Amino acid sequence: MDLKLKNKVVLVTGGSRGIGTAICKAFAAEGAKVGVNYRKSREEAEAVVKKIGAKQAAPIPGDLAKTGDIAPMFDTLEKAFGPVDVLVNNAAYCPSGPIESYTREEWEHTFAVNVTGAFLASQELIKRLRARKAKGKIVNIASQAAFLGSTSGHLPYDASKGALVSMTRAIAREVAKEGINVNAVAPGMVLTEMVAKIWEERKQKYLARIPLDRIGEPEEIANVTVFLASDAASYMTGATVDVSGGLLMR
Ligand SMILES: NC(=O)c1ccc[n+]([C@@H]2O[C@H](COP(=O)([O-])OP(=O)(O)OC[C@H]3O[C@@H](n4cnc5c(N)ncnc54)[C@H](OP(=O)(O)O)[C@@H]3O)[C@@H](O)[C@H]2O)c1
Repeated sequence: MDLKLKNKVVLVTGGSRGIGTAICKAFAAEGAKVGVNYRKSREEAEAVVKKIGAKQAAPIPGDLAKTGDIAPMFDTLEKAFGPVDVLVNNAAYCPSGPIESYTREEWEHTFAVNVTGAFLASQELIKRLRARKAKGKIVNIASQAAFLGSTSGHLPYDASKGALVSMTRAIAREVAKEGINVNAVAPGMVLTEMVAKIWEERKQKYLARIPLDRIGEPEEIANVTVFLASDAASYMTGATVDVSGGLLMR
């Protein structure tokens, strides 16, 4: 299947490791030009760029919790490869602990990165697509936790992912007639730094809940993300696709 992503310009937030890195590589494999966004992991982002090749990837600094960082991320990528066609809102912050442990600041920071950052980046892309009367795609990386909650205590994160799913539908509805498709992926457990420790501690408990009987690989999330950003998914918008080994079945 030709996904028609060759030379499309894609911004992946949080591309410096884990699922974000797999998404960057999967788009590059389809011939797209990729902006590898990072907040503090500059060396990791540069290593991803090196692996893909500088003709097809560029490191894009920017903290999604800072409003002033959003437009410059698009400017930097645009300078390297031209106007952005696809945005993948992948970066996330995930604090842990029981309900009584969270401060207002921690709650608000989680939403600042996971919801407001994704909102501002989506707003910026849509503004730029409208200005050049272009079509585009947004893919939001949500989580099974938006629907099931966590069993290991990540309340602000779970709530923020629920907001991201709602935002996916709301933006999708608003921009559908302009040829901008907005969808989401809801991963289950995927082996990255975010969950490595908790997976080791509670492996058997998690496995009991996962019909496919294993943890997911970042590439398995990347494959679906690339599909949703392609013309092969042209009749999809406002959807959240579960990629969870059956952990989440709706
Ligand atoms: N792993 C799982 O099991 C799982 C399950 C469900 C959903 N997900 C979702 O999948 C996505 C990727 O998860 P992951 O497991 O790959 O996470 P990860 O390994 O913790 O990586 C998180 C990425 O987000 C970036 N980031 C964090 N805060 C940022 C900010 N303020 N501004 C810009 N970038 C920021 C990090 O870059 P820096 O190091 O530079 O900060 C890093 O590249 C997230 O949305 C997560 O919620 C993961």
